[in-house]
Amino acid sequence: MKGVVLAGGSGSRLHPLTRITNKHLLPIYDRPMVSYAIEALVNAGISELMVVTGGTHAGEFLRLLGNGHEYGIDRLFYAYQERPGGIAEALGLAQRFVDDDRVLVMLADNILESSIHASVANFVKQDKGARVLLSRIEDASHLRHLGVPELDPNGRIANIVEKPEDPPSTLAVTGLYFYDQTVFDVIPTLTPSGRGELEITDVNNWFVSQQTMEYDVLEGFWGDAGESIDAYYAVNDFVRAHGVNKD
Ligand code: G1P
Repeated sequence: MKGVVLAGGSGSRLHPLTRITNKHLLPIYDRPMVSYAIEALVNAGISELMVVTGGTHAGEFLRLLGNGHEYGIDRLFYAYQERPGGIAEALGLAQRFVDDDRVLVMLADNILESSIHASVANFVKQDKGARVLLSRIEDASHLRHLGVPELDPNGRIANIVEKPEDPPSTLAVTGLYFYDQTVFDVIPTLTPSGRGELEITDVNNWFVSQQTMEYDVLEGFWGDAGESIDAYYAVNDFVRAHGVNKD
């Protein structure tokens, strides 16, 4: 399985900090943000990675990560997104890298307390399709900033609603997504959303419509450090107090 770390975007929710650097290079406790996603994937046994970035600070990723060997990466590739066109568009840049393999995609502003190796094993066993990682969040005002699944009576995902006014469950879709090769047939069929981006939620709902979407609910803390300045500091506080990516 290949790993794709998405580290592009304009980071507008963290302006003006992100006017002078890429969001994913901002510090989380004692390290640049992106290094936590890299660690999560490497700890889960994924050793071929592509980092997709963009904007004016892309060169700093090479300075930080180099050839990846220091981070336990066997082969590290880079791709450059020319404009912030959304998560799904960024993933499309990894098509030739992923080739006919499967892929675990991780948004580089997501931070996890616990290892994801169990989910990697679940996806290896999964016949086909996609798998998302969900996190239990009770606060509806928080869920309104995220993708939220609606579950059917059998507990399967019936639909995912992006940034719902009225969240249909107390689960959030985190920024970790497993896909088989068909994802690269879906991306070219998408049309831009209201925010002018190709939405990963549209990709995920395609797999829902094929009844090939599975999920795991994460244990422990999950945070999206790019969601707001308060979320950024909440993630910093958690990492500093408790540490993350624990087995
Ligand atoms: C994206 C996804 C959303 C998901 C979130 C997790 O949101 O669109 O479904 O819940 O990542 O970090 P964005 O950060 O692009 O607003």
